[in-house]
Amino acid sequence: MATPGIALVGCGSAAPDVVLDNDTLGQLVETSDEWIASRTGIRRRHVAPPAQSLVELATEASNRAIEMAGIDPEQIDLVVLATSTADDLFGSAASIQSAVGAKQAVAFDLTAACSGFLFGLVTVSQYLQTGTFENALLVGADLMSRWVDWDDRRTCVLFGDGAGAVVVKASDTSPGLLGFDMHSNGDRNSCLTLRYEPNDRPLVGGVTASRGGYGFLHMAGKDVYKFAVTRVPETIEKSLFRAGMTADDLDWLLLHQANQRIVDAVAKRLKIPSERTLVNLNEYGNTSAASIPLALDEAVRSGQVQAGQTIAASGFGAGLSWGSAIFRWGA
Ligand code: UT7
Repeated sequence: MATPGIALVGCGSAAPDVVLDNDTLGQLVETSDEWIASRTGIRRRHVAPPAQSLVELATEASNRAIEMAGIDPEQIDLVVLATSTADDLFGSAASIQSAVGAKQAVAFDLTAACSGFLFGLVTVSQYLQTGTFENALLVGADLMSRWVDWDDRRTCVLFGDGAGAVVVKASDTSPGLLGFDMHSNGDRNSCLTLRYEPNDRPLVGGVTASRGGYGFLHMAGKDVYKFAVTRVPETIEKSLFRAGMTADDLDWLLLHQANQRIVDAVAKRLKIPSERTLVNLNEYGNTSAASIPLALDEAVRSGQVQAGQTIAASGFGAGLSWGSAIFRWGA
């Protein structure tokens, strides 16, 4: 029997209602709409109010994806949440599983920063293509506003909050992921971090534990920029090669939404015209693991992306980590 393929049959997204535009942000740190827009393409970002949880946002996105897929939540076998900003350090995927009513599903978190959704897509596809599971819900969600240093203009202007989700099915009639490629380089971990900061907590008998907390996001922006514009075209070319395709066969290029200049540089390297790039970072900023499914959902719902079209997606970021996958949208 041929290995089953996969089909992405539903998508959904959600972002907090509260919007912070560049001009307003200029009242907090010394910056300007001109600087942010010209260096990044970002105009606004959505910021979750204190009472809103990651699980709430992710559940909203997931419910929309499940509705589009037209499946009963109890048919879902697997829930994977790609996030670096879970509500609970033990993981938030099970809370989403409960909230959407996916009673039969096993649920776990996957942390690979801005590559999280892409790594998650490859992960769920393995379970589906081996016949282990039939239906998976893959969520990418991050509340970056909770972890950036709002006094640091070099980073706080870049990030935002959001969630996106896809329902992926095993399918005998669709191909699997046409090609994929994934990498990590921990030697360069310090380029982009959100680290635990220890704080001594003396116990008894000379034993000291650490009762610290997580600090702020730190990024060496220029280093990460250079890494992205080099590695992203490379990984997409590898995925295309494995798919037996060239960039001309692609309908859409869908990159992690970090910076318009990165999208432009990668598209140029791959000789993909800008009309075939999917971009919504102007509205949301960098939403880490949420950025790819959030942009995909908007493009599908606006009619930009049509069933049967071929998309090359690439995630890149902390780890350092990067990867890409080529897939068709729709059943
Ligand atoms: O999600 C993970 C992946 N992340 C990325 O891909 C991000 C990759 N990096 C980038 O996108 C860019 O490096 C940034 C957008 C972060 C920065 O752009 P840049 O062109 O590399 O600027 P820079 O950091 O070299 O800063 C240039 C100048 C500096 O001033 P001096 O030192 O030249 O006087 C900064 O202090 O711009 C200044 N600057 C700002 N000015 C106004 C930095 N941030 C701001 C700001 N507003 N928000």
